[in-house]
Amino acid sequence: MAIHAGRSRYSSVAIAFHWVIAVLLIGNLAGGLLFDIIEDADKSLFFTLVQLHKSTGITILVLAVLRLAWRLMNPAPPLPDHMTPAERVLAKLSHWGFYVLMIALPLSGWAMTSTAKIKFPMLWYGLFEVPPLPAPTGWNYHDFHGILGWVAVAMIVLHVAAALKHQYFDRDDIFARMSMKGRR
Ligand code: HEM
Ligand code: HEM
Repeated sequence: MAIHAGRSRYSSVAIAFHWVIAVLLIGNLAGGLLFDIIEDADKSLFFTLVQLHKSTGITILVLAVLRLAWRLMNPAPPLPDHMTPAERVLAKLSHWGFYVLMIALPLSGWAMTSTAKIKFPMLWYGLFEVPPLPAPTGWNYHDFHGILGWVAVAMIVLHVAAALKHQYFDRDDIFARMSMKGRR
């Protein structure tokens, strides 16, 4: 059932999913990309941060699956009339690409730790154990995880550039409809 069909803004639920996941994902990306430097500087800090990274990654995975389900039941508001057919295709491709990424990135990390030679139990923020993923062995999940990380960096840069273009060049309501400001 389309709960908010025909609206001109994203729903509060969609906005909350967007910004909570954006903050957690950017945090996990930054952490992941700094791992090598941190590992050289302080082994025990590195170990703590990897546990935090895994717990946050699993949280992102759960939120992304819930968000995808919500999105499939609640269509996005229509894009502004001034956008060309090519821009519409790009916007849709990048948005669905993000859904794939929000699920594939944590899944590849989970598969990596689940198939590692030396396995550590994964405790979600120290509270309960997350079981290993029954992922097939023989795949290079580590490299796949790293490559997806860089794909995410590139997509976020383009996504933010597009949001800024809409805000300051096209001066349309694209940013406003994904912002908490002005919500009743
Ligand atoms: C959206 C969520 C996630 C993002 C954005 C992310 C991103 C990254 C990035 C960019 C790296 C550095 C890769 C490299 O240096 O080649 C990394 C490393 C790592 N990630 Fe994730 N990750 C996520 C989720 C997860 C999950 C769910 C797990 C495990 C359950 C995980 C486990 C790891 C581990 C163990 C490393 C370190 C690998 C090493 O020692 O080199 N990640 N992550
Ligand atoms: C990790 C970071 C991010 C991810 C994964 C992400 C993902 C997404 C996705 C999937 C959508 C489409 C929503 C849908 O139709 O279901 C979207 C829309 C949007 N995002 Fe992001 N986003 C991120 C960060 C950001 C940032 C930092 C900004 C601000 C500069 C931003 C601004 C927007 C705006 C304005 C829209 C609305 C587009 C429209 O109205 O069609 N996003 N984002």
